[in-house]
Formats: sequence, structure tokens, C-alpha cells
Amino acid sequence: MASSHDTKRIGTERIQNIGFGFKHAGTLMAAIELSLFTKISEGAGTIEAIANACGLSLLNAERLVVACAAMELLEKKENKYVNAPDVDMYLVESKPRYFGAWSLMGKGDFADWINLADRLSNPAPPSVLGIYEKMTTEYAEALTRAMFNVGLGAGSKLAKQFDFSKYSLVLDLGGGSGAYCVSLCRRFPNLGALVFDFDNVCKVTNELIEEAGLSDRIKTHGGDFTRDPFPEGADVVMLNGNLTQYGPGEAQTIIDKAFSMLPSGGVMHIIAENLNNEKTGPKIAATWSIHEALFGSKGRAHSDAEVCEYMENAGFIEVEAVEFVHNILQRVTGFKP
Ligand SMILES: C[S@@+](CC[C@H](N)C(=O)[O-])C[C@H]1O[C@@H](n2cnc3c(N)ncnc32)[C@H](O)[C@@H]1O
Repeated sequence: MASSHDTKRIGTERIQNIGFGFKHAGTLMAAIELSLFTKISEGAGTIEAIANACGLSLLNAERLVVACAAMELLEKKENKYVNAPDVDMYLVESKPRYFGAWSLMGKGDFADWINLADRLSNPAPPSVLGIYEKMTTEYAEALTRAMFNVGLGAGSKLAKQFDFSKYSLVLDLGGGSGAYCVSLCRRFPNLGALVFDFDNVCKVTNELIEEAGLSDRIKTHGGDFTRDPFPEGADVVMLNGNLTQYGPGEAQTIIDKAFSMLPSGGVMHIIAENLNNEKTGPKIAATWSIHEALFGSKGRAHSDAEVCEYMENAGFIEVEAVEFVHNILQRVTGFKP
């Protein structure tokens, strides 16, 4: 039987949820910092047990748990709280896909979002590198380490989607932690890789590659790929998780440079938070796009069709855009004839 709750009507709920969305982010980040999901996966299921395990008063444990349940991060089963399946996979510290560190990276920008209207109406000309213009070594280290686990999963996915067995050297532009290259090299024994990133990132990347036992096959190359020449020799170029930081002009220049250095038969992959071709979403791409306004860059999210066009303008053929991670990332791939 339909209840009054089923009636769709114009009201303020949706706007309130968006307007106070910072409360959702704040709750999620507090839960991660307090190891809530880890303690629940270890067996704490009642408010009392959770309060004890996380070092909270009963009052605050109840507040946190109820808010997480309301946001569907927790479910209630037989009077105990349990993690929702995605939370259990990605936010339990002992699990291989843990990406709490990445979820907490938003903390650094949190205060800046308050000033978004000012940033959007700031008449100052945008810079090319945005956030990377003055990246501190501290930030580079935190970002690079936070991205490693996320990148490993994405790299494994790419290794399943595309056969790298006939290629020999990958140039990973803005390769960050090197995680994509680690996953590809683990899967394809013929492959070597070069991670091109800023010097302060490469320092951390070298440590992560060494920990992965792949220092003999994956090297780093310090520099700025918008200004510096690309190292020679690669037959694969990747640009993953970077495109939104750049505007159409820079994107075209980077893709043109990649095309010039590739040999005939070489391939380029661009994995990015692309917009749909109608430019109505998805939300993750659209909000990364507006995020660039905080840092005064020229960057914005590009649609699948735009990225395909940049690739074709450069000379790539058989260019196609495919879904990579549903509603998050798309892959555009093209070949040099
Ligand atoms: C969001 S991370 C993505 C890292 C990696 N590709 C991944 O997907 O896991 C962006 C990376 O691109 C690097 N980057 C951005 N612009 C760059 C530039 N102009 N030259 C070199 N590296 C750059 C940043 O330093 C950072 O490591």
C-alpha cells in the first residue's frame, strides 16, 4: 500500500541535502579518522561496543553511527550495525583496496569551498598548472601515497581491458604513484614503464616502485609535461587522472606531443573524469571540473566527444571512448597510424 512518503512532490529536501552536503563529507571523514568502519568489521556492532572501540562517549557514538546509517554507509541487521558492501571493501584499513587516505584528501580543500563564489568571480587570468603551480613536498607526498591503492585497482582494470603484450615501454604522463605502471608490469612481463611527474612526486614514486619490487622495470622522469619534452622510446602513452586539470588548449598540446613521439602503431590512452556529451553530468566529473576554480587553473572536465576530437586532431585513428569506472572514469584510446 502506498504511504504518504511515496508521494513525489516539490519540496526542500533535495536542496537541503545539497546545501548541507558538507555535513555528509564531514561525517564520512570523521568516521574514517576514528576507524569506525574498521572497528565494525572487527565485530563492534552495538552503540556500546562501537563507543568502546572508537574511544567515544555513548552520545557521540550514537550520533556518528546514526548519521552513517542515514547515509547508507552502515546497515542495521539483527540490532547490530554492519558496513555497507562498498564501505566494507574500500574503508576497512586492513583490506587491500582501502582508500581512506584518498577520501581524506578532501580535508585540505574543505575550507576553500566556502569561498567558491569569490573564486568563480575572480577576474585574475587562470594559470596553466593550477594546484601544481606551488605544490609543496608535503602535499606531493600525501597525494602520491594516497593515490597508490586506488591506482593499483585502476591499473589492474586497464590490464584486463587492453592487451599490452605487443608493446614494450609505457610513458605515464602524470603517473603519480606509479600504481598504473605497477599493475601493468605485473600483468605483462614484456613491459617497462617511465613515470613522468614533478620531481617532488618522483621521489615518493621511486620509494613505492621499490617497495613493489619493480625498480628494474619502472623508472621515473622528473619534469613538467606541459613544458618539457617527452622522453623518447615509448610505444604507449597514458594520461590518467590529469586531463581535468587542463583546458582544451593545453590538452591538445599534450596530446599532439604524445602523437609526435610515438612510433607508428603506438597507442595513447587517456583515462579521465569525462562529462557526457550533453554536458549534464556525471556529478563526479562536474564537481572535479568546478574544483579547478579553487586553484585558478584553466582546467575543466571535457566531454567524451571533446577528448575524441583532440585525439583525432592530433592524428590518432580508431579513436574510441569507453566506460572505465561507471559514472567516474572514461577511457579514450587511439592509435598512431
Ligand atoms: C590525480 S594524480 C593522478 C596520478 C595517476 N595518473 C593515477 O591516476 O593514479 C595527478 C598526477 O599528475 C601529475 N601532474 C599533473 N600535471 C603535471 C605536469 N604538468 N607535469 C608532470 N606531472 C603532472 C601530478 O603531480 C599528480 O601526480
